[in-house]
Amino acid sequence: MPEYTDIQTLETVEAQIAKFPPLVFAGEVRTLKQQLAAASLGEAFVLQGGDCAESFESFSADRIRDTFRVLLQMAMVLTYGAKVPVVKLGRLAGQFAKPRSEPIEKREGLSLPSYRGDIINDLRFTPAARNPDPLRMLQAYTQSAATLNLLRAFSTGGFADMTRVHAWTLEFTDSDRAERYRELATRIQDTIDFMLAVGINADTAHEISKVDFFTSHESLLLEYEEALTRIDSTSNCWLAGSGHMLWIGDRTRQPDGAHIEFARGVINPIGVKCGPSLNAEDLKLILHRLNPHNEAGRITLIARFGADQIGHRLPPLVQMVKQEGFRVVWICDPMHGNTIKSSTGFKTRSFERVLKEVQGFFAVHASENTIPAGVHIEMTGDNVTECIGGIQAVTDEDLHSRYHTACDPRLNASQSLELAFLVAEEISSRRGEKIKRVVS
Ligand code: PEP
Ligand code: CO
Repeated sequence: MPEYTDIQTLETVEAQIAKFPPLVFAGEVRTLKQQLAAASLGEAFVLQGGDCAESFESFSADRIRDTFRVLLQMAMVLTYGAKVPVVKLGRLAGQFAKPRSEPIEKREGLSLPSYRGDIINDLRFTPAARNPDPLRMLQAYTQSAATLNLLRAFSTGGFADMTRVHAWTLEFTDSDRAERYRELATRIQDTIDFMLAVGINADTAHEISKVDFFTSHESLLLEYEEALTRIDSTSNCWLAGSGHMLWIGDRTRQPDGAHIEFARGVINPIGVKCGPSLNAEDLKLILHRLNPHNEAGRITLIARFGADQIGHRLPPLVQMVKQEGFRVVWICDPMHGNTIKSSTGFKTRSFERVLKEVQGFFAVHASENTIPAGVHIEMTGDNVTECIGGIQAVTDEDLHSRYHTACDPRLNASQSLELAFLVAEEISSRRGEKIKRVVS
């Protein structure tokens, strides 16, 4: 938690935000919970993605549009692979606060508070910029409201039309490098053509042209989160009004900590990051605290162990959850356990390791006979060079050319879509194996 020094301004800002309209509404949150409950049973698949940290400086309509477009493309490919609806969750419209392992950053003899996300302080390395400023919460709220307004328009105003979305994907598979994904893309196109031929189109079925899209972010800055809670008049319970789903980060998930305590009191779906230091006993405590009535769709467990650790760290947690009968959605964040420093000095992740962790996640669930229900990735619609590998073969030497992230390295548009194709293939081949086993 940041140490604000200007307490008077902090209190004024909190009082102001407490009067602002909530960004999301209880009915939407209930719809998301139902969709996540379906995912917990394998009847839906979750795609959660977006920036590591949204920033004030790179805020633009085009960027939001491009990220949203890639998420829709990925969702279509995954729907085809998983053969179930895809729950679409952005790391958007509120993903501003960042947990840091080191409270202090040192550069050339100067020590300053670490950058904690634009809602708290400024990335520039000066004492004034790094001082936590409560007024930044107002800008985060405004940017979130504007982002959500655009996302709502894109979701229902024709932009999300399946035929358009897939046309962009076909364009991607036109390139020689993406040749291996062309066959799957063509099969999706055939399915669309078939639907249109039998009369299922935007006029007859709203699913063709509209999508449900939800927002999510790490519930880290409790001053902001608390100021945005509202009573839901239908249930008389507290709703976090800052985003549809909130998650608790790997650094702040102490069972008796403030972040669990806050999340316990709101009705939103809650994500919990599960990293290498989480043991089954603590997870059990967390689940009892956050979801005493074992409501389906309330809890999403986001595994982020790293490609080398997922195979031995995830099984004990999955086994405990299964034995205790906890209803959860298991999804895989293959980003945060695979961060490395490149030979050229950049924080990066390799596409290959990201894919390897996802495959490890599917393998664990196959052997435990549980449900791998989704993926969580840091991505952008921009053509950045922050992660290495993929068909574009970004190398250590390329990283400097378009390295724009305010925090962790993101998959670019091409790497994101490629990952969706590979996850779709993984799901299809595992389904094929299962059918074979049942038949024989
Ligand atoms: C994040 O999702 O950006 C993050 C900080 O993750 P974790 O808490 O898993 O490290
Ligand atoms: Co991150």
